[in-house]
Parts: sequence; C-alpha cells; structure tokens
Amino acid sequence: MINLIKKLPKAELHLHIEGSLEPELMFKLAQKNQIDIPYKTIEDVRQAYNFTNLQSFLDIYYAGANVLVTQDDFYDLTWEYIQKCVEDNVVHTEIFFDPQTHTARGIAFETVINGIKSALDDAQARYGITSGIIMCFLRHLSQQDAFDTLTQALAYKDDITGIGLDSAELGNPPSKFKEVFQQAKEEGFKLVAHAGEEADFSYIYEAIDLLAIDRIDHGVQSIGSNELMQRLKAEQIPLTVCPNSNIELKVFDSYEQHNIKQLLDYGLNVCVNSDDPAYFKGYINQNFINLYEHLSLTEDDIVTLVKNSFRSSFIDDDLKEHYLNKVDQALR
Ligand code: ADE
Ligand code: ZN
Repeated sequence: MINLIKKLPKAELHLHIEGSLEPELMFKLAQKNQIDIPYKTIEDVRQAYNFTNLQSFLDIYYAGANVLVTQDDFYDLTWEYIQKCVEDNVVHTEIFFDPQTHTARGIAFETVINGIKSALDDAQARYGITSGIIMCFLRHLSQQDAFDTLTQALAYKDDITGIGLDSAELGNPPSKFKEVFQQAKEEGFKLVAHAGEEADFSYIYEAIDLLAIDRIDHGVQSIGSNELMQRLKAEQIPLTVCPNSNIELKVFDSYEQHNIKQLLDYGLNVCVNSDDPAYFKGYINQNFINLYEHLSLTEDDIVTLVKNSFRSSFIDDDLKEHYLNKVDQALR
C-alpha cells in the first residue's frame, strides 16, 4: 500500500508556502539577511516544534517567516517545496501565501508574489507541475486590512486563482470578513476559508452561507452537526483535511481518533493535504502513510482521497480528466 501511495499522482490543495520553510533554509536565510532567530542549532528548532494548539504554532510560524526578505528568498522557499512535490508525485498544487505577514514587515507585495510565481513557472517548465496561488487574509487582523490587501492583489489578478482565510480561528469567525469576500467574488476569485479546525461547526456554516466559499479548509468539526454533514454530502463541498497538522496541533489526541475515515465513509468530499509540512513532520505522502498505518485505510479509500483532490481543484475539466486518467493508469 505504501508503494501505491507513492506511485499515485496527487493534487495538493492546502499548503501554506511559509509552512514549507525547513529549518535548514531558515538558518541559511537568517544568516544571509542578518535576521535574529531564537535558535542556536537546527536541533533547537526541531525541539521548539512542540505545539499545544493552533496559536502556539502560529507564534513560531510567524517568527520563522521573518527570515524571508528578498524575491530570491521566496523563490528558493517555493522551489524547495517543488522538490518535495517531485519526490511525492504531487503533479498539481494550489498553494497559500500570507502577504500580510510580509507587508507588515516592510516587504513589498510584489517581492512575495513574484518570487513564488517565478518558481511555480519554472516548476511547470521543468517538471510539468501545474499550480495555482491562493492569497489568504490573516483573520486575526481587521477586515479593513484585508480590503487593503485585496486592493494590492488586483494588480496580480492573473497570477492569483483564489482568496482564502487563515490564522487564529477562535474569536475570528468568517462573518468578520463577509464584505471583503463578497468583493473578492465580484472580482472573479475562487474562495476558500479555514473553518472548523479548532472552532465548532458554526464557523463552517458561516463560511458556506456568508462567504460563499468553494472549499472548506480543514472542516473536521463538521462531525458536530448531522444536518451540516448531510448538507456537505449533498452539495459535495470539498474539505481539505490535514491529518498530520491536526495531530501536531492537538485537534485530535491521536491518529486513531482522527475522523477522516468517518467523513469519507459518510460520503463527504475529503482529500489529504500537508498544511505546514516543515512544522508538522512530513509532506503529503507521510500524511497518507500515517492514515494508512493508524486508520486502516483501504486501497479504495486512498484512491477516493486522491481522486477527490483533483476533482476539488480549481483546474478546468479537461485537465481534471487528464489527471484522473493518470491516476487510473497508475493503478493498472
Ligand atoms: N496558517 C498556517 N497554518 C495554519 C493552520 N493550520 N490554521 C490556520 N492558519 C494557518
Ligand atoms: Zn492551513
């Protein structure tokens, strides 16, 4: 089964590019850019990655992102992630970035997007990997701040597929961003939002009904409402689930308690993603392997999860068909 996991072409739909910053690159960039980081060795960094909840992770994640300064830094970050895609057979990826994390430190929006975009262009040219970019608003900041960020993004509309919502969930419900999501929709962006990661299922309802999202990121708390589960099933609203992340951030106490198999068996449109792989002990294949080993996923389960990743992506129907055929070929 592990061979099958490795062999299947996959799409990744929930990956924060800042969360793919490996300690080695963090150290290298800190030195180059003369940025202080609170670690003496790479081992120190890994020791610090011991989280109690989402906020305890975010504090360390935002501090790590401070080492990213130049366009080349964002290129290198993205290019390193692309190497993991090659290793794990990710053939299509839709990556998140958090511009406010960088613009608040005086880094220009264009520095960030141009670095990421040029690495993704090179990934397509060199490896045939297709991709999209999703710009996330930080939900702990104000809606006005999100509006300002959306205005900056308009100049890069051709490079940005979608708009998302991330950062500290509790106390920052989707309703706080209703108007800015409405404008983003009018501008033609696809919409996603983190909802029901730590906060309860009411945040998922808000993301669907008030923000009109196309996908829910995480969504594992949907299990708290039968009515919501029925709706997610009927409408096949995608949930981009991130198993390793949920374990590392203590959303579930153990892998055995993770509910992805229940969601899948119920008929929900779930897929597997790595979220912040440099912080959560592994990239997409490791997430699949952990699920297989702890939750006894069957071959059918794995194929369904993989096919869901393509079906839920923002690519056109022809490319979806192409990739779904590739999955079937790999199975033969
Ligand atoms: N930003 C990066 N990873 C995140 C997560 N798992 N939840 C919310 N915001 C994030
Ligand atoms: Zn996330």
